[in-house]
Amino acid sequence: MTRIKVENLKKYFYSGIFRKKMIKAVDGISFEIKEGKTLGLVGESGCGKTTVGRTILRLIEPTEGKIFFDGEDITSIDGRELKKMGKEMQVIFQNPDSSLNPRMRIYDSIAEPLRIHKICNKKDEKERIYELIETVNLNEELLFRYPHELSGGQIQRVVIARILSLNPKFIIADEPTSMLDVSVQAQILNLMKDLQEKYGISYLFISHDLEVVEWMSDEIAIMHKGKIVERK
Ligand SMILES: Nc1ncnc2c1ncn2[C@@H]1O[C@H](COP(=O)(O)OP(=O)(O)O)[C@@H](O)[C@H]1O
Ligand SMILES: [Mg+2]
Repeated sequence: MTRIKVENLKKYFYSGIFRKKMIKAVDGISFEIKEGKTLGLVGESGCGKTTVGRTILRLIEPTEGKIFFDGEDITSIDGRELKKMGKEMQVIFQNPDSSLNPRMRIYDSIAEPLRIHKICNKKDEKERIYELIETVNLNEELLFRYPHELSGGQIQRVVIARILSLNPKFIIADEPTSMLDVSVQAQILNLMKDLQEKYGISYLFISHDLEVVEWMSDEIAIMHKGKIVERK
């Protein structure tokens, strides 16, 4: 089954105060990702990878093109529909330092999406959080610490636990390990693969590192200046 389908996606930015300059950040991209599969999107910095992800998540509006999720056209949904989809589609960003609220204990960071989406009552919440922390192989002692007391790898695990609380079907991972040490990188990537197998999650895996993308992906799309120039 096709989970995500992107058709002729374009995102143009306009910059400059006096003379308008147009940047074709994404310039006519199409791809499909099946249930439980990973598409790797690779290319040099500035080629438009993050813009593709942000557009699919509807953090920014596409200039042109269509996005389908489980067969449904989500290009211009809003309100309740967008909130519902926002549960099934999640994102992991690059920078562990800014991905958690520094003033919130890990426990509350993981609980937050459950509370926002009113997924369970207090008792079930606690059970769910302990289950999630185990799923990402973290020691439960960390639940009562703050983000600055954790390593980058531990934080990415918390981010993953937080996301998993919503049972997502599709995750956009935008350079999720590029700020981590090589040894920790491999552990996080393996965790992501295990979770994919367990829950049938589809990934759009974004990276500038071809080796990492090759390790993670079923299919690879190489981007250059807003276009896909090669597929493997
Ligand atoms: N909000 C924005 N306003 C103007 N230009 C942007 C904006 N976001 C990204 N860009 C430009 O779009 C291009 C692609 O950026 P990005 O998607 O971040 O690339 P990548 O993730 O591959 O490094 C770059 O030239 C970048 O400067
Ligand atoms: Mg980027």
